Amino acid sequence: MTTLHTPLIELRDVSKRFGSHTAIDHLSMEVREGETVALLGQTGAGKSTVMSLLMGTSSADEGTVRVAGADPARDFVALRGKLAVSFQTDRLLPWRTAQENVELGLLLLNRPRAEARERAAQWLRRVKLGDAGHKYPAELSGGMRQRVSLARALAVDPALVLLDESFSQLDHVTSQTLRRDFAEIVREQRKTCVFVTHRIEDALEIADRILVLAAPARVCLELSVSAEQRQDTACMARMHQQIERAIGGDTDTTAEAEPDPSSFTTTDH
Ligand SMILES: Nc1ncnc2c1ncn2[C@@H]1O[C@H](COP(=O)(O)OP(=O)(O)OP(=O)(O)O)[C@@H](O)[C@H]1O
Ligand SMILES: [Mg+2]
Repeated sequence: MTTLHTPLIELRDVSKRFGSHTAIDHLSMEVREGETVALLGQTGAGKSTVMSLLMGTSSADEGTVRVAGADPARDFVALRGKLAVSFQTDRLLPWRTAQENVELGLLLLNRPRAEARERAAQWLRRVKLGDAGHKYPAELSGGMRQRVSLARALAVDPALVLLDESFSQLDHVTSQTLRRDFAEIVREQRKTCVFVTHRIEDALEIADRILVLAAPARVCLELSVSAEQRQDTACMARMHQQIERAIGGDTDTTAEAEPDPSSFTTTDH
C-alpha cells in the first residue's frame, strides 16, 4: 500500500535558465507511482523543459529533481531501463527498419535477441503496424513513425513513461485509436506516466491529474480527473472550459488564440 504514496517523481523548487531566460521558476511537483499526469500549456510554457529534466538530458540550476529516488541527470545507471521516452520528433534511426528500431531498446538492455524480436513484433502489432516491420522510417508516414516510436518506448516495459506530443502528428482516426490503446495500456499496467499534449481532450481522456503550466513553468491549474467524472459529460465540459481558460491566461476562452508576441521561435526538440 505504501508504495502507492511514494512519489516516483519529485521536483522541489526547481529553476532552469537558458542564458538570461528563465524557463522554469521554482517549480515543485510530484507524481505518484501508477499515476498518469498530463502537462498542458501554451507554447513556450516550459513543458518540454520539465520533460528534459525528468529524462536527465538537462539538469536544474536550482532545486532537486528525483526520479525513482535518483537524480536523472547523474544516475544514468540507476534509471537504465526504467524510463521510456517518446519525443515530439520521433528520433528513429533511419538505417534501421521499424522492427529493428523497436528491438533496439531491448537489445541495449541485454535482452536475448529472440525475446527482443518477439516483443518488438508484438508492440508493432499493438500500434497497428504489424505488417510494416520491414520498412525503414523514410518509407513510413509521420504518423506511422510516431507509432513506431511509441512502440519502442513501451516495449522495454518501463516503470515510467514520458511522452512529449507523441500523438500530435497522427491523423484523427489513428490518433484516437492509439490514444485509447495508450490509455488502456497505462491503466492496465499501472504505469506511471507523464505526457505533454496540446489537446485538452487527450488530457481529460487519459490523465488522472492535469497540470496547466504557464511560463516560466509554474503550475497555474491543477485538476484531478476520476473515472466517474469522465462519464459525466457536463463535468467534462466544465473542466474543458476551465483548462482552456487557464491555458489562455484566463483572458481568452479560445485556446488557439493569436500567438503571444513576446513569444519564442519554437525549435522542435
Ligand atoms: N535549449 C534552449 N535554449 C534556449 N532557450 C530554450 C531552450 N529550450 C527551451 N528554451 C526556452 O524555454 C522556454 C520553454 O520552452 P519549452 O520548450 O520547454 O516550451 P514548451 O512548453 O515545451 O513549448 P511547446 O508547446 O512549443 O513545445 C521557451 O521560452 C524556450 O524558448
Ligand atoms: Mg515542447
